[in-house]
Amino acid sequence: MNARKLLQPRYSPLEAGITLFVALLIVEIGTLWMAKPARVNVTRTTAATSPLPAVKLAEMAKADDPNAHRRPYTFTSDWFTTRLPSWKVALAPYVGRSGLSYLEIGAFEGRSLFWMLDHVLTAADARAAAIDLFNGPYAATYRNNLEVSGSAGKVTTLTGYSQVVLRGMPLDSFDVIYIDGSHLPFDVLEDAVLCWRLLRADGLMIFDDYANIGIGHDYQGDIQLTGELWHPRKAIDPFVQCLGDRCQVIHNDFQLIIRKVK
Ligand SMILES: C[S@@+](CC[C@H](N)C(=O)[O-])C[C@H]1O[C@@H](n2cnc3c(N)ncnc32)[C@H](O)[C@@H]1O
Repeated sequence: MNARKLLQPRYSPLEAGITLFVALLIVEIGTLWMAKPARVNVTRTTAATSPLPAVKLAEMAKADDPNAHRRPYTFTSDWFTTRLPSWKVALAPYVGRSGLSYLEIGAFEGRSLFWMLDHVLTAADARAAAIDLFNGPYAATYRNNLEVSGSAGKVTTLTGYSQVVLRGMPLDSFDVIYIDGSHLPFDVLEDAVLCWRLLRADGLMIFDDYANIGIGHDYQGDIQLTGELWHPRKAIDPFVQCLGDRCQVIHNDFQLIIRKVK
């Protein structure tokens, strides 16, 4: 090979331009890919990964039950009827009990609340308290459903942040408390701690989305939260572990249900 040939450029200007363009394109795509938010991983854990006792009252239903309610309520979402099998077993001893008192944090349109009123809080002197921010169109749906229920006289509706409202409620006053409001771990922890002294001995505390980790909605700011931010269980496990023998885990699945022993 002679020296002249060696000194000749190996690529034409066009080839060099195309190579440079492709290289820049790869760098740009790589930068964009690294900058995009982490993919949302929806992890549904099972009782097997829970540090709490592996007990189950019933399997969760595989599909929503559109016939779960007795009256012509209006609901736009169903975050409840798949949980019904374990509720039916856990709540059977409370059905129709005189003086029964139920507290729900996160009433929304009332799907769980009105099921309780129609199936469990059936005694004339049974009562329910429903806390929610009621800061969206669902508030009107809730009010309408309350009329449809025919049980408005049994229900106290409280508007505001549960973490504030709970502080004004009487101790030892509820037999069943359902925590289904904010799913941010610290809010859940605060709800749980505040509710504990509101719960009567032998009462039940039910936590929604115990095994639902990863994706949810922050209703307080309408911000989509993912991963560790939306993780009720992060609060529930240490809360229950701190209670020790003061509570008994009776259902550990998608929801967690504990009974107050003392
Ligand atoms: C998943 S929905 C509850 C569903 C309802 N239990 C049902 O069966 O249809 C959660 C509700 O919690 C309410 N919420 C969220 N954060 C809250 C807070 N800090 N205090 C009170 N309510 C809250 C929301 O406004 C929303 O209506």
